[in-house]
Amino acid sequence: MNGRTLIRGGLVVTAAEEAHADVLIEAGRIAALAAHGSDAAASLTADTVIDATGRYVVPGGVDAHTHMEMPFGGTTASDTFETGTRAAAWGGTTTIVDFAVQSVGGSLRAGLDAWHEKADGRCAVDYGFHMIVADVHDRTLREMDALVEEGVTSFKLFMAYPGVLYSDDGRILRAFQRAAANGGLPMVHAENGIAIDVLVRQALEAGRTGPRAHGEVRHALLEAEATHRAIQLARVAGSPLYVVHVSAEQALAELTAARDLGLPVFGETCPQYLFLSADNLAEPGFEGAKYVCSTPLRPREHQAALWRGLRTDDLQVVSTDHCPFCFAGQKELGRGDFSRIPNGLPGVENRMDLLHQAVVEGRLSRRRWIDVACAAPARMFGLHPRKGTIAPGADADVVIYDPHAEQTLSARTHHMNVDYSAYEGRTLTGRVETVLSRGVPVVDRGTYVGRAGHGQYTPRGLCQYL
Ligand code: URP
Ligand code: ZN
Ligand code: ZN
Repeated sequence: MNGRTLIRGGLVVTAAEEAHADVLIEAGRIAALAAHGSDAAASLTADTVIDATGRYVVPGGVDAHTHMEMPFGGTTASDTFETGTRAAAWGGTTTIVDFAVQSVGGSLRAGLDAWHEKADGRCAVDYGFHMIVADVHDRTLREMDALVEEGVTSFKLFMAYPGVLYSDDGRILRAFQRAAANGGLPMVHAENGIAIDVLVRQALEAGRTGPRAHGEVRHALLEAEATHRAIQLARVAGSPLYVVHVSAEQALAELTAARDLGLPVFGETCPQYLFLSADNLAEPGFEGAKYVCSTPLRPREHQAALWRGLRTDDLQVVSTDHCPFCFAGQKELGRGDFSRIPNGLPGVENRMDLLHQAVVEGRLSRRRWIDVACAAPARMFGLHPRKGTIAPGADADVVIYDPHAEQTLSARTHHMNVDYSAYEGRTLTGRVETVLSRGVPVVDRGTYVGRAGHGQYTPRGLCQYL
């Protein structure tokens, strides 16, 4: 499909508006929109016409939190950039922002180079990188400036995982100060890892060795406490702050309080916290291991607060934190000791559909669906106006979405390289039909037609919420 493509007759939904409009694509970009049936629409001509009658025409999803082939917990996340971005495309996500990791003792540059090496020539859809800063020292801080210049404009610090990715408050403060100076956006995994490790040891000594204990020791108050501390450190540093994978109502309350003060503090949650709960961690036998991630799944009562936070814009973004580990051979590493279960859930393929289900159930408006899944992550991470919207000049990353199709999520039919689905058997209304990435079909009416290497590395600008 070269030349000009016209998507005709669909309901175009962006974060800002909805309209029955025809969309003209040329040279990989959105060239024009015209009200369906208007004279202007009638004058649009193209080599290829896609009939989107009865469908939504929405921007490709932007998943701003993935971990493809990330070494973690003594093993490596099971999706490569090739399999993970292919699954993303199947699910209507056309851009991912993955986390390059600095090794302790290593440089940011070496970590970033290693992630480029993994991704280069293998991705089905476009991708960018955040940088995990695991070893804050003078040279690292200087390197942050260079990364911002070249399009890696966000830096993740961990208050969890002592001895692995953890940074103490002093290191975090220094990284935040540097970001305040160079315009980067600091991100934080907010859990009090030192206190959690005490509770982990106590649980294991008491014989509480199963997956359920993972949720219990990673107490909601220890997420809230770390969130509060991160916000104060950002205030002292004069930096903005983006808190990843918010799951606890009390942590969200800290964000809300900060935002009520007018602070540039932002939050993300993930589908697993909206649709799954601590009940999954308590499933019989070792089944709960499938749901071990950090922050952990919370008791069901937290979900209402998260949905409310999305509606009130106290949470801006829904990302997946896609970090899959197979049950066989990977999650099983933690039989008899929950602290050895590799942390992470698969989900890159399911995010757009699960959030559409929230539209079906009246929890989110259609526009808010597109905002939290496409537009807000694009603005947050400096990808707007190329990504996250359908407007003249934007990349033609477009999903034709059938809002009435029924589907049942299952490991038997998904495309992620992992042997289970966290949503096995869940029935959803709505399904991705066709996906264009920069105007090129990647999924065509339910058939994958993409290729490894189509996806391009996408340097990012600064956060556009500041
Ligand atoms: O459980 C999780 N979230 N695994 C991935 C690493 C992280 O903390 O984001
Ligand atoms: Zn994390
Ligand atoms: Zn993560």
